[in-house]
Amino acid sequence: MVNFEFDFEFQKITNIQQKNKMARDIKNLKDLQNTEYGLKKLFEEAEDFLPLLGTDYVEFYVGNAKQAAFYYKSAFGFQSEAYAGLETGLKDRVSYVLRQDKIRIVLTTPLNKGGDLNRHIDEHGDAVKVIALWVDDATSAFEETTKRGAKPYLEPTREEDENGYIIKSGIYTYGETVHLFIERKNYDGLFLPGFQKWESHYNPEPVGLKFIDHMVGNVGWDEMNKWCEFYGKVMGFAQIISFADDDISTEFTALMSKVMSNGNGRIKFPINEPAKGKKKSQIEEYLDFYNGAGVQHLALATDDIVTTVSAMRNRGVEFLYVPDTYYDDVLERVGEIDEDIEVLKKHGILIDRDEEGYLLQIFTNNILDRPTMFIEVIQRKGAQSFGVGNFKALFEAIERQQAKRGTL
Ligand SMILES: [Fe+2]
Repeated sequence: MVNFEFDFEFQKITNIQQKNKMARDIKNLKDLQNTEYGLKKLFEEAEDFLPLLGTDYVEFYVGNAKQAAFYYKSAFGFQSEAYAGLETGLKDRVSYVLRQDKIRIVLTTPLNKGGDLNRHIDEHGDAVKVIALWVDDATSAFEETTKRGAKPYLEPTREEDENGYIIKSGIYTYGETVHLFIERKNYDGLFLPGFQKWESHYNPEPVGLKFIDHMVGNVGWDEMNKWCEFYGKVMGFAQIISFADDDISTEFTALMSKVMSNGNGRIKFPINEPAKGKKKSQIEEYLDFYNGAGVQHLALATDDIVTTVSAMRNRGVEFLYVPDTYYDDVLERVGEIDEDIEVLKKHGILIDRDEEGYLLQIFTNNILDRPTMFIEVIQRKGAQSFGVGNFKALFEAIERQQAKRGTL
């Protein structure tokens, strides 16, 4: 069994008594720190027809998976986990599976010309194709979502090897992005049937990234509400936060955002759309280069952002530049924090506070040549929000880069 350490107490979740107890417990989000999302329901408006246990993996279609894997290992501290390709009987593609604590990414590249992978890469560049969600029952997940209007991507399919079997199914979400539902309770292998262990003599240390905190989708003009409704209606998610364009704007550019979450809070999808400003929104720039809607960033959680970020910097990761002036009045805004502000300033780590506590976050520069995707590193110290207090400082930093690219 893949050794995710979440406790599996599903039956209890459907038990009414337990549910009522949870409804009382969720009032106190202060106890929620960085890592321990249980299976308790946190958001009462969310529906339970699609219990999600967590993110199973995120699959990228890339032009050169071998070199991309080297980058994610070297720069981000991912570990070699599993492999499938010519050596395992595949003819048209290779996939490398990398892992760091509970985060699992898959890098897939085509081996031949033509076909859907090449077309996807031509259209979007290296991009997230699959956000795979870990479920107890992939057949029911498919039925429940398609009956509520999801467009099918993959009918429930059983795959097996000597380690047991998995069932996977899938639906489309925004753009060409898909959600696969992965049922692995009857599987003891390393990853999925067809994959073998990936042995490597090159194993850089992890940098302390622990799990995916949230994954953000950028969608087209006036499409945010449509996709939030999709997550509400089709997947039973609750809307937990909403930002209007005047919340998220600078003098020049703007965007709008809503955050959708499943009931236990393990899956959080902010959805952004561009808004009108004097100049071109960063979301519009994304849409132009991505050629439509897609994943903009993965926010990866750490328990020690200073250590994680310094390790990443040492390995060559570039972060968005934050002007020193950001730190002049930041403590007036966020109040007392445990960390040394000079250390945060040295690394360009941003701070924000909400009613529940505070959070520390930082954003990489785009990790691809197309200005599409980037990575966020986040450490939550009670706060359950997404850093709205930092948006202005952050977007001004992004605008400086857009200006250099001539896309502002
Ligand atoms: Fe984020």
